[in-house]
Amino acid sequence: MDRLSADLMRKRPVKVMSIFGTRPEAIKMAPLVKELEGREEFESYCCVTAQHRQMLDGVLEIFQLKPQFDLDIMEQRQTLSTITTKCLLGLEKVFEQLRPDLVLVHGDTSTTFAGALAAFYQKIYIGHVEAGLRTGDKYSPFPEEMNRSLVGRLADLHFCPTPANRENLEREGISKGLYVTGNTVIDALQTTVKKGYHFTTEVLNRIDYEKKKVVLVTCHRRENYGQPMEQIMSALGQLARRYPQELELIYPVHLSPVVQEVAHRHLDGLANAHLIGPLAADEMHNLMARSYLVMTDSGGLQEEAPALGKPVLVLRQETERPEAVQAGTVKIAGVDARHILDLAVELMESPKAYRQMAHAVNPYGDGQACRRIADAIAYEFGLSDRAPEEFQAKN
Ligand code: UD1
Ligand code: UDP
Repeated sequence: MDRLSADLMRKRPVKVMSIFGTRPEAIKMAPLVKELEGREEFESYCCVTAQHRQMLDGVLEIFQLKPQFDLDIMEQRQTLSTITTKCLLGLEKVFEQLRPDLVLVHGDTSTTFAGALAAFYQKIYIGHVEAGLRTGDKYSPFPEEMNRSLVGRLADLHFCPTPANRENLEREGISKGLYVTGNTVIDALQTTVKKGYHFTTEVLNRIDYEKKKVVLVTCHRRENYGQPMEQIMSALGQLARRYPQELELIYPVHLSPVVQEVAHRHLDGLANAHLIGPLAADEMHNLMARSYLVMTDSGGLQEEAPALGKPVLVLRQETERPEAVQAGTVKIAGVDARHILDLAVELMESPKAYRQMAHAVNPYGDGQACRRIADAIAYEFGLSDRAPEEFQAKN
C-alpha cells in the first residue's frame, strides 16, 4: 500500500498545521483552513510566519482566520536569507510544541520552502498545496522556481492544481502522493465576487466602468527589479498618456519600497493613473471582475482573471501557468516597453483582438479544490477508503 497510513496507526483526528506568510498564500490557504476546521477528521492549526505583515493581516481579517502561532518575522527590505533563517528558527519551536501529524505549505515563497524544510528536520509529513508548477528556469521566477522544486523533493503529498502540474512532478521522478485537485484560488474567488459590490476604497466607486476601459495593474516580482521594472512602468506611463479620456489605469502598488519608488517615479502626476495601496482580497477580486484588461506579473492574477473572462498581459518573460495561454485568454507580454505597449494598444483598439481573449475559461479549478485536498488527506491517513476524484477542466 502506498498511502501514508501504511506507516501509521489510523489516527483520528489528524493534527494538521497550515503554514503561510504572504498575501497570496493566505488567500489560497484560507478556504482550505476553513474546510479542515469544519471536518471532524481533522484538528486544524494555523501558523503564520508574517513574511508579509499588513498585506497578510488584511487577508486574515477578510477570511476571519485566527492563527494560533505568529512568528512576526517581516523586516523592511528583507533578504531571502533573513526570511528563511527566521522562519526555520521560529518553526522549530512551534513544531516542538505542537507536534503536528501533517504540515501544509503553499506554493513557492521563502515561507513555503522554510516551512517544508523545518518540517523535514523533525520528520513531520509534508503536504504541498499548489504543487508542480514549473518554468524550467532556475532563476525565473527567482527564487520561486527553486523554492517549489525543492519543496517537491521534500513533500510527501502533492496537491497539483492541473494535470500538467502533475506531469511536471512525474518527469522529476515523483510518483507517490500525487493528486490533481484544482487551485484553491478558485474556491476563494467564488466567495468574494458579488454583484453590486460596493468598494470601501472610495476612488473605485467613482470610476465609470461602463464608459471607461479600466486597466488593472500589479507588479512585484524580484526578477523584474531594475531594468525590467523600469521598462514595464515606462510602458504603463505611455499607455495612460495615449488614452487620457478613454482609459483609467488602476494600480494597487505592492508595499515593497523597491516597487513603490519606481512606480511613483513613472506614474505620479498622470490624471488617469491611480496609484493606490494594496487592496483587500475581496476589493481586488471585484475590481478585476469590472476591469477591461489586466496587466500583471502576479501568479494569482493569471489564475483569477481568466476565470472572470478578463484578458491578461503577463509582464514577464515566461509563465509556469501555460493553461490559460493555451486557452487564449493570457499573453506573455515580456518586459520590453515597446512590445508591452503594442499588445495593450491592440487590445484597446481592436474589438476583434479583445473578443478573442475575453472569454471565461477555468483551467485552474472548479471551486472544489479544498474538499478534494481534505479528502486526499483523510484517505492518506487511513480515515477514508476513497481517494478524491481528479479535477478536470471543462472549457
Ligand atoms: C513575496 C514572495 C513572492 C510572492 C509575493 C507575493 C518570496 C521570496 N517572495 O515577494 O514569491 O509572489 O511575496 O506578494 O517569498 N512589505 C511591507 N508590508 C507587507 C509586505 C511587504 O512593508 O505587508 C515590504 C517589506 O519592506 C518587505 C518587502 O515588501 O521587506 C518585500 O517583501 P517580501 O516578502 O520579501 O517579497 P515580495 O516581493 O512581497
Ligand atoms: N491581491 C490583493 N490585493 C492587491 C493585489 C493582489 O488582494 O492589491 C491578490 C490577488 O487577487 C491574488 C493575490 O493577491 O489573489 C496575488 O498576490 P501577489 O500578486 O502578491 O502574489 P503572486 O500571486 O504573484 O505570488
